[in-house]
Amino acid sequence: MRRKLVVGNWKMNGSLASNASLLAGIAEGLNGTGADSAVCAPAPYLAQCQAALQGSKLAWGAQDVSAQAGGAYTGEVSAAMLGDFACRFVIVGHSERRAYHAESSELVAKKAVAALDAGLTPIVCVGETLAEREAEQTFVVVRNQLGAVLALVGERLNKIVVAYEPVWAIGTGKTATPEMAQEVHARLRAQMAEHNAIVAGGVQILYGGSMKPENARELMAQPDIDGGLIGGAALKAADFLAIIHAGSSN
Ligand code: PGA
Repeated sequence: MRRKLVVGNWKMNGSLASNASLLAGIAEGLNGTGADSAVCAPAPYLAQCQAALQGSKLAWGAQDVSAQAGGAYTGEVSAAMLGDFACRFVIVGHSERRAYHAESSELVAKKAVAALDAGLTPIVCVGETLAEREAEQTFVVVRNQLGAVLALVGERLNKIVVAYEPVWAIGTGKTATPEMAQEVHARLRAQMAEHNAIVAGGVQILYGGSMKPENARELMAQPDIDGGLIGGAALKAADFLAIIHAGSSN
C-alpha cells in the first residue's frame, strides 16, 4: 500500500515574514491523520525551513538542482548544498523549468541522478501541453519524459517520486478530471513496470495542476493517484492543510 504524499511547490513566492507564519500555520495544523507532507521553498529560504521545521512532521525541499556536482556553474545550486539544509525532496523537470529554461528530458534525468547521489528524493515532473493533448500526444509526451529518467536512474526507481502535471492545468484553475488523471497515472505506472516490475507498484505518483481542497479528495481516491504537488493552494495554510487531510481518508 502506497502512502499519500502532499507537496507544496511555493514557486517564486514568499518572504521571511510570510514564510514564518505559513510554516507555523501548517506545522500547527498537522495531526496524525494526514498524508505525508512537505514544502518545496525557494533556495534562499531553505535554512529558514530547516530551523522552523526541525522535529515537525512537515518535510522540506527545493524546486530545482544542478546536474553538476560543483565548480564553475554560476547561479547553480548543487544537490550536496541542498543536503546541507536537510532537504528531503527536490523537484526536477517542472514544466516551468522545461518551458522557460529550455530544460530537456535528458537534463532532467541528470538532475534526478544528482539528487539521488546526494541522498535526496527527486520529484520528477512530466506533463503535456494543451496543444499536445489536443493532438492526442499526451501518452507519447509523458512516456518520453519519464523514459529519459528511467534510463538513467536504473535500479534506483524505488527512490524517486513522479508527478503528473498537465501543463494546461497548472495555475489555470482547470483541473484534469480524476478519470483523465488516473488514465495517465496508470500508463506511467505500467511504463515503470516494464522497467522494473518489482518496484513499480511502490512508486508514488502525484497529481499536480490546480489541486485544491474542493477536488483533492476525489483525485486522491483514484487508484494510481498517490498525492499532490500543489502550487497556489500551498500558499495558504488552511488550504494546504485541507489537502493534506484529504489524503488521509482514501
Ligand atoms: P498549481 O501549480 O497548483 O498552482 O496549479 C502546481 C504546480 O505547478 O506544481
